[in-house]
Amino acid sequence: MIMSEQITKKIAVLPGDGIGPEVTHQAVKVLHAIEERFGYKFEFSKALIGACAIDQTGSPLPQETIDLCESADAILLGAVGAPKYDNDPDAKVRPEQGLLGLRKSLGLYLNIRPMKVYEQMVQHSNLKAEVISGVDLTIYRELGSGIYFGEKEELAEGSSHASDLCLYTVEEVERVVRDAFKAARKRRGKLCVVDKANVLASSRLWRKTARRLADENPDVEVSYMYVDNAAMQLVLNPGQFDVIVTSNMFGDILSDLASTIGGSIGLLPSASIGTGPALFEPVHGSYPEATGKDIANPLAMILSVAQMLDHFGLAEAAQTVRYGVEDCLNKGLGTPDLHPEHEVGCAHLGDMVSVAVHDGKIQLKQSGTSTGVSTII
Ligand code: NAD
Ligand code: IPM
Ligand code: MN
Repeated sequence: MIMSEQITKKIAVLPGDGIGPEVTHQAVKVLHAIEERFGYKFEFSKALIGACAIDQTGSPLPQETIDLCESADAILLGAVGAPKYDNDPDAKVRPEQGLLGLRKSLGLYLNIRPMKVYEQMVQHSNLKAEVISGVDLTIYRELGSGIYFGEKEELAEGSSHASDLCLYTVEEVERVVRDAFKAARKRRGKLCVVDKANVLASSRLWRKTARRLADENPDVEVSYMYVDNAAMQLVLNPGQFDVIVTSNMFGDILSDLASTIGGSIGLLPSASIGTGPALFEPVHGSYPEATGKDIANPLAMILSVAQMLDHFGLAEAAQTVRYGVEDCLNKGLGTPDLHPEHEVGCAHLGDMVSVAVHDGKIQLKQSGTSTGVSTII
């Protein structure tokens, strides 16, 4: 064990639905390996969210869950969502309301979604090796406002319309764009602001605000791109991007698109940041078809743990987790989505990462950014 100061953290664990519990279980295993290696202590407490919470309590976000999260140092969340609700647009209560409600009640205004192409995955992407090799970008997605949280008018009996308002304030845009500038400065110094300012008033507010902040940050190279073009550019030439900052819905869509560059959404972690406890969850959903089959990729969830450790200021532990993931990829181990040389199940891959974290010989060069780049030799 590496002796270090006694660090204890309270982690709220919200496994949720579908493959959520399976991948969350692997993340907790990896944290146990970190405890043993570094002498830290993590206190885990579980709570309900999503469809399983509706089944057991009638609410997708029971008050107990909010209370537990508020009193935790960080939250690990698997995924929410179930076909029963996906197939019923008339459902009055939805699992996703649990996640949205939690983001709102914890004031999680920013979602950081790093995406890098692992060398071992280059041959498995749908895109050409020369287009994707070395791609390393991060999406700063606004998480607490916009069309997700604007006033809604549901389709009522006898009515023929429904609507969702996309409203942003200058302050809401300013705080995520400021954070994105900081991230760009620590990375390769490039920021792309993605919007639809040629059509949407809310996007013009984004662009105007970003332009003003660009004047205050002359050391960062800023570009502006319409979201339709950004989707195309991510496929044509993803290497041009360093940090992308964008609104809630555009960030949601572009991150799933970006995940395909590196071969699988099962590799994309995320960190949701507010002023209190932060939440860490994979970008993917509850992948219902795979529930209980032991085929889901746990690496997105495990890499979210690395983001959590970075957030705690435990950079070496975070790097160790990323090393564990890369070690497995180097050995050709992976779940089916990774088209690996040696196919293993979700639980086995979790075990293998934990073993690498526990026993691996790791030498760290200087630490990378706090959002996902590690330098391991
Ligand atoms: P999804 O991300 O669950 O699955 C889409 C596809 O991605 C799958 O068919 C699979 O091919 C792949 N995939 C996803 N996770 C994977 C993993 N860990 N390993 C390997 N492959 C993986 O998205 P969906 O099918 O659109 O949604 C299913 C449910 O999840 C819905 O109810 C939706 O609302 C919910 N959802 C929740 C979250 C969340 O909790 N943050 C995110 C997205 C979707
Ligand atoms: C995500 C998901 C959620 C979102 C849903 C489940 C509410 O797609 O975290 O990417 O749209 O934010
Ligand atoms: Mn999504």
